[in-house]
Amino acid sequence: MDLPTAYAYPDRPWLRVNMVASADGAAWTEGRSGGLSGPPDKRAFQVLRGLADVILAGAATVRAEGYGPVAPRESWRESRAGRPPTPPIAVVTRGLDLDLGGDFFAGSPGTARPIVITCEAAPLDRRQAASAVADVVVAGGDRVEMGRAVAALRERGHDRILCEGGPRLNAQLAADGLIDELCLTVSPLLLGGGAARVLDGPAGRTPLRLADVLEEDGFLFTRYVREES
Ligand SMILES: NC(=O)c1ccc[n+]([C@@H]2O[C@H](COP(=O)([O-])OP(=O)(O)OC[C@H]3O[C@@H](n4cnc5c(N)ncnc54)[C@H](OP(=O)(O)O)[C@@H]3O)[C@@H](O)[C@H]2O)c1
Repeated sequence: MDLPTAYAYPDRPWLRVNMVASADGAAWTEGRSGGLSGPPDKRAFQVLRGLADVILAGAATVRAEGYGPVAPRESWRESRAGRPPTPPIAVVTRGLDLDLGGDFFAGSPGTARPIVITCEAAPLDRRQAASAVADVVVAGGDRVEMGRAVAALRERGHDRILCEGGPRLNAQLAADGLIDELCLTVSPLLLGGGAARVLDGPAGRTPLRLADVLEEDGFLFTRYVREES
């Protein structure tokens, strides 16, 4: 399947969420998403990264998944023409309990300096320490307001936003009407147990239109767009 074509962004500001879930809806197994994934999903994950201007993630995902800098790929050369070789990662956090000396920050190139999106309630010393290794955006008082966070990314020219979760971040974006598209990979697996679904937060209702369905090796790649998008 020609994923870069299938997943090309529209020519306007767009926020895409990419998640993988088991057939019964679990968003993680043993605390991470890796056990839900497989080679086709990993390929799609990388294609979506290559198309994005910026990757948005909640701090719990960055911690649980051990995020590092995005590695450049030869296959991205065409789709990233005129843009930096890799997209920066913007992490949403209140506590700023992030390894500021670790590879995620220290190993990111200047063209993709990490962005920390936080709020006024975050510890001041941590905000100051973060500003040495990242662009720090304050987008709210007691908590990050998602509309302000997304606006700050767009002000930096990042119109093509790829949100990689997790479920608590996704739920807030959905509640604020900010999700234009959900790319949901359904993994051929039943898990049961208590994992969250791909949205974990207050109930809401966002009508979606099914835009695409692809299949590879039992993995179902669904793409939904918000009804009015
Ligand atoms: N299936 C998939 O495709 C997929 C994708 C991503 C993640 N996951 C899994 O999902 C789990 C993590 O997801 P999660 O839902 O628990 O957490 P999450 O959404 O990744 O991150 C939650 C954290 O983000 C920060 N945050 C969120 N909203 C905020 C706000 N309004 N203001 C300030 N900070 C805010 C807080 O960070 P601080 O605690 O730093 O303040 C909060 O603890 C992991 O197990 C991961 O493996 C699965």
